[in-house]
Amino acid sequence: MASVTRAAFGELPSGGGTVEKFQLQSDLLRVDIISWGCTITALEVKDRQGRASDVVLGFAELEGYLQKQPYFGAVIGRVANRIAKGTFKVDGKEYHLAINKEPNSLHGGVRGFDKVLWTPRVLSNGVQFSRVSPDGEEGYPGELKVWVTYTLDGGELVVNYRAQASQATPVNLTNHSYFNLAGQGSPNIYDHEVTIEADTYLPVDETLIPIGEVAPVQGTAFDLRKPVELGKHLQDFHLNGFDHNFCLKGSKEKHFCARVHHAASGRVLEVYTTQPGVQFYTGNFLDGTLKGKNGAVYPKHSGFCLETQNWPDAVNQPHFPPVLLRPGEEYDHTTWFKFSVA
Ligand code: BGC
Repeated sequence: MASVTRAAFGELPSGGGTVEKFQLQSDLLRVDIISWGCTITALEVKDRQGRASDVVLGFAELEGYLQKQPYFGAVIGRVANRIAKGTFKVDGKEYHLAINKEPNSLHGGVRGFDKVLWTPRVLSNGVQFSRVSPDGEEGYPGELKVWVTYTLDGGELVVNYRAQASQATPVNLTNHSYFNLAGQGSPNIYDHEVTIEADTYLPVDETLIPIGEVAPVQGTAFDLRKPVELGKHLQDFHLNGFDHNFCLKGSKEKHFCARVHHAASGRVLEVYTTQPGVQFYTGNFLDGTLKGKNGAVYPKHSGFCLETQNWPDAVNQPHFPPVLLRPGEEYDHTTWFKFSVA
């Protein structure tokens, strides 16, 4: 059982409209989601003692989300992650996107799906957001109808993404929540134990574009098949952090992706998905300059993202899972964020 309440969250400048907030509540979770970017702004999870803490980074007010900030909690599209040099071909025709992360296109462009107002519809156990991405938006081909549905089922937050295209276009949708299971505002995630169910990952060049190789994790820092304590692991391997796509085992059916355990609070996050990959990002570019909820600042490594998705730059790498959506087809992916204590 879940309840849903609806309230105004803030006004967009220059008559841009009202952003609303939807609060989904079950016995175990409370989630706030706003219609700006389908953004998760708060997620309260109980610890072993039954004490609830907000485990996602974000802002108390709309202004926070409108400033330059690293996609806190938002839905990313039309294509999440990087497209090399912002260029790709579909059926022989070349398309050029804005280069918003030199020298590549990142997360849908200058004004991606995270920076638009969506149309909400309240459901019995959640909220559905929809919008039509116009033909040519951010340089992408064709019109795209999109539905993002959040539902709550006990300790599980389920996110479903659907889309239909009027022309062949790459589509890759994800959610960009930054988690800290100790509670948002905690200084780092070093005491989190991470497991990712991937035998292979994608090595990247210095601009974070996959070099094309699908490399075995065996014997590398990317072998997270057994739990590792993040801080110690980064130290042992002299890593600045993770910002990599892990290639998941399993088909288009629901499969296990990752588990993160925070021993001190007992909180556990397990992620399941229908997607072929997950970008594990440890907040390497956070620098403590943003003013977050409850006076929090967000230094490097103070949150982690598990962005379930297709593989980065798939539109330019034919041996990666197919990323084109054609007219008459339906894009349909689901990710489950399951919280518990252990
Ligand atoms: C990317 C990072 C990027 C961040 C946004 C992640 O999905 O992998 O490279 O910096 O999003 O700030």
